[in-house]
Amino acid sequence: LDNGLALTPPMGWLTWERFRCITDCKKYPDECISENLIKRTVDHMVNDGYLDAGYEYVGIDDCWLEKKRGPDGRMVPDRERFPSGMKALADYIHSRGLKFGIYEDYGNLTCAGYPGVLGSEQLDIDTFVEWDVDYIKLDGCYIPPEDMDKGYPEFGRMLNASGRPILYSCSWPAYQEDKKILPDYASIAKHCNLWRNWDDIDDSWASLSSIMDWFGDNQDRLAPHAGPGHWNDPDMLLIGNFGLSEDQARTQMAVWAVLAAPLLISADLATMKPEFKRILLNKDIIAVNQDRLGKQGLRVWKQRNISVWHRELSNGERALAFVSQRADGAPYAAKFTFQDMQLPEQTYTVQAITLSAPLYQGLPSAILRTQDKKLQKPGHLGYILLYIPRTPVTCLPSIV
Ligand code: DGJ
Repeated sequence: LDNGLALTPPMGWLTWERFRCITDCKKYPDECISENLIKRTVDHMVNDGYLDAGYEYVGIDDCWLEKKRGPDGRMVPDRERFPSGMKALADYIHSRGLKFGIYEDYGNLTCAGYPGVLGSEQLDIDTFVEWDVDYIKLDGCYIPPEDMDKGYPEFGRMLNASGRPILYSCSWPAYQEDKKILPDYASIAKHCNLWRNWDDIDDSWASLSSIMDWFGDNQDRLAPHAGPGHWNDPDMLLIGNFGLSEDQARTQMAVWAVLAAPLLISADLATMKPEFKRILLNKDIIAVNQDRLGKQGLRVWKQRNISVWHRELSNGERALAFVSQRADGAPYAAKFTFQDMQLPEQTYTVQAITLSAPLYQGLPSAILRTQDKKLQKPGHLGYILLYIPRTPVTCLPSIV
């Protein structure tokens, strides 16, 4: 969508994957969807370096509304969990230098059963504008996926006409893919800043792994539609939750960087472990994600559950992510030729990002091998080599 927003993949934080539809604040005071959770998160984003690293949106997903609209037809935020109202919350978010994201559903109801937008489009957009919302995620439960080709662009046009720059996140293709309807990605890219393509991510390696597979398997019809202002969205980052090991967390960050994916953390920043925080704040990997050329990378090689992902960057640089999805645990040797990696044969400077220590020790030999056009390393989870062309081979390790 050409509205001047999301010229690089959006970065921020979103409630859903970690906090779901927790609404019982008596039982779960630190986890319920509430203004306290949002304000606490905002403070952590500012104080703990997330905002400085580029994470600027803080978003509420489903379950923030009262079950019924007000007598004037307007949306009413849950009175107990958002006692100060959304405008006050937006003011707080803005006062700390962040931007405010909110969720609605294009159907009659949200997926969790709260009021949907259908029939109240203009009123809801006016309300969001009054609240100074900067980002809207429009979900697609309770509406036939066939209707979305018309409905999502129409809502987008109304948003644009509001005069406030609002980032527009669509779930349109995700519901169509699910029903085996081939989405019109050219139209989606024209009307949305980002769009969910596929399944919701859950807090497990199995879920992450299946999403990576799907994006690799379907890349030919997805990748051409990504670029400044419009991005495929493989869903939130799990990093900092319960289900991924440290190496698996690196894998998600590496693959999301190559895919030019939105980086939306969904974790409790108050209890974030330092090893996960280091991954989320790794400036070298964020720089790959945010590369201004905006070209989505591809899985260029996959054998026996080891894959190489390759993204072309500005200035002729290239980022490669090496990923193992093998379940057998032990390090596994893999060989890649320049051709396998779809890397033009020339001399490179190599920068290693998010290597774990044993791999780092192995790196100089890997670089030597690049001179005889082979790179040989043990298969391991999640790291990126950044290839910078036309200089003598040197090693610039940058390790988390
Ligand atoms: C389905 C979406 O794909 C999720 O990301 C989340 O927004 C839920 N709906 C909320 O109900």
